[in-house]
Amino acid sequence: MHRFSRYCRESGKTIGFVPTMGALHEGHISLVNESTKANDITVVSIFINPAQFSEDEDFERYPRDYGGDIRKLRGLPRLPVDALFMPSVSDIYPDGYKTYVEVRGLSERLCGGFRPGHFTGVATVVLKLFNAVMPVRAYFGLKDYQQCVVIKKMVRDLNLDMEIVTCPTLRDHDGLAKSSRNIYLSAEQRPEAALIYRAMAEAREAVKDGTLKIEDIAPRLQETLLKSEAVTEIQYASAYDPRTLKETTEGKRFLIAVAVKIGTTRLIDNLMVEL
Ligand code: PAF
Repeated sequence: MHRFSRYCRESGKTIGFVPTMGALHEGHISLVNESTKANDITVVSIFINPAQFSEDEDFERYPRDYGGDIRKLRGLPRLPVDALFMPSVSDIYPDGYKTYVEVRGLSERLCGGFRPGHFTGVATVVLKLFNAVMPVRAYFGLKDYQQCVVIKKMVRDLNLDMEIVTCPTLRDHDGLAKSSRNIYLSAEQRPEAALIYRAMAEAREAVKDGTLKIEDIAPRLQETLLKSEAVTEIQYASAYDPRTLKETTEGKRFLIAVAVKIGTTRLIDNLMVEL
């Protein structure tokens, strides 16, 4: 990977990078399309990063479809990607591996409260992938809003000479955000999962038309989400400052963010609100 990236850079070519954990869907492909538009070379990585899963999470059963992913990347109508980087776990974390990147504060909020160590795993692997691929731009989906904020902070704090490009969430016809984990949902759960988007969109419209105060977003989301028996747990559902990720009751621009379990499947989503 280093040799390929060095060769591209020495030939004056810009490298755009799309890091993924595979099980590619239209959301990933939209990131690839953004990269191929803006860069000479596009590199995609597929690496299911054990460091961002805790013991009781779904690392072992995380969807893996390497053949399908490669076919999708080869068959892109615009431009195929130039390189697919698929390191093994021992390439990334050889025996005796000891170095981790911790973005303090931001990592502990929202998902961090329910997935301790998750963002340390994300920041560490993303930095290692950046070092291997040497991109000028890297592309991330805003569905994982907190991940975008954490990675941007890491890039600033560590003076990385590159740009993080964030791209809009892609949704199914009923609003459910595209996610590799949607395939865990049963046929009965799948339509119920659209409630996450509906609850956030309803709250956003109500705040915009003045019938809901920002401080009442959290109770309104709880009420809507709990109407479905498919929702087995609400981890968080409220309005947050988009920079600090702290819960907020004021501001002209804030994030509505939700993490729930539908059965045993954990899903997250968010909407930005501009008043
Ligand atoms: O968003 C993901 O798929 C992963 O968290 C990432 C950025 C590829 C790091 O493992």
